[in-house]
Amino acid sequence: MTQVAQVGSQAIIDVFDQYVIPNYRRQPIALVHGEGSRVWDADGRSYLDLFPGWGCNILGYSPPRLVRAIQEQAAQLIHVPNTWYIEQQGRFAEFLCTRGFGKAFFCNSGAEANEAAIKLARLHGGAAGRYRVITFENGFHGRTFGALTATAQPKYHEGLGPMMAGFRYARMNDLEGVRGLIDQETAAIMIEPVQGEGGVRIPDAGFLQGLRALCDEHGLLLIFDEVQTGMGRTGTWFGYQQSGVQPDVITLAKGLAGGVACGAMICRSEIAGDLRPGMHASTFGGNSLAMAAGLAVGQTIEEEGILQHVQDLSAQARAHLLQWQQELPIIREIRVRGMMIGIDLTIPSAPAVAKCMERGVLLNATNDTVVRLLPALNVSEADLMEGLEIIKEALEQMAGDV
Ligand SMILES: Cc1ncc(COP(=O)(O)O)c(C=O)c1O
Repeated sequence: MTQVAQVGSQAIIDVFDQYVIPNYRRQPIALVHGEGSRVWDADGRSYLDLFPGWGCNILGYSPPRLVRAIQEQAAQLIHVPNTWYIEQQGRFAEFLCTRGFGKAFFCNSGAEANEAAIKLARLHGGAAGRYRVITFENGFHGRTFGALTATAQPKYHEGLGPMMAGFRYARMNDLEGVRGLIDQETAAIMIEPVQGEGGVRIPDAGFLQGLRALCDEHGLLLIFDEVQTGMGRTGTWFGYQQSGVQPDVITLAKGLAGGVACGAMICRSEIAGDLRPGMHASTFGGNSLAMAAGLAVGQTIEEEGILQHVQDLSAQARAHLLQWQQELPIIREIRVRGMMIGIDLTIPSAPAVAKCMERGVLLNATNDTVVRLLPALNVSEADLMEGLEIIKEALEQMAGDV
């Protein structure tokens, strides 16, 4: 069903130009309606979105079961603060923790989930004077000051200093480097099990196990930022489940409630008490609407066998992309983990993404040279293959221009 807006794209953009702070580099497209992996703009043009909602629309646009759950919940209770108990929060925590581990704290975003993890690490290590967190180059953890300082990319710190005290930056895959940064004041190591914004970078085999061993040796918490890799994105409920490593803490957001703002920090039950009453809170965190949405997303993924679908489609996509790499020398590397796909080019990726957008396929350019896809987990094989063909045409054209 195509729904044309009351006003066209340009009229919508004009209002932004006058009243909205221009802190985002927006594309000149105003979206009004979506279904599955398709989305329509205010002028009636449709797009195949292989990066829906920056990974938040994990079941695509307006999946019917999620829409129903939100509508029903909204009619009953939208927001209840954490002064009270609500069934939905307990049930969603149970859902997540029984597929993972531990106990959950809910908030609204990835940055907030990471703030909770950093606070937990400081509270846990505080008696021993431990507060420092080691994070990794190319990582991304969010824009609030704790999460931003944890993000070891200087471009995000420019003009905002001084950053928060208590962080040190290591290089991924350099275990000895990490060891050299650990001292009496170190409380935790925090890493994305697959770096998303950093260009879908997958740690070398054994690296995450090595971090676990270092944490065990020095009494540190191992925190996995699963904001992007969580909720089935990688083909298992959580990214850590493919690493052979049990972290002490994971953080979640993005697809957690299918596009409704929702974040979570999950930690081992034995350390959950360190986040004692009064030490952390979030007014909206864990409210009825977000929890009902999260449960609907989780149940849909489980009942519709979507994790298996992700694994199957991922293998298929990888095979295609590896074949392209043989044919197109501008492809430096293919990196695929579930429905996280990075095509690393020898040339800037933004023009390739722009060409695809002209052809009606929405993607993301990250880390200068990487074309990134975070398709909906339930994207159909036909849609994904159609999108890949269009990306290939764009890359072929660019290879010809080099
Ligand atoms: C791994 C990771 N952590 C944290 C964040 C920050 O999440 P939010 O924008 O919801 O604060 C992001 C966002 O892209 C992310 O990819």
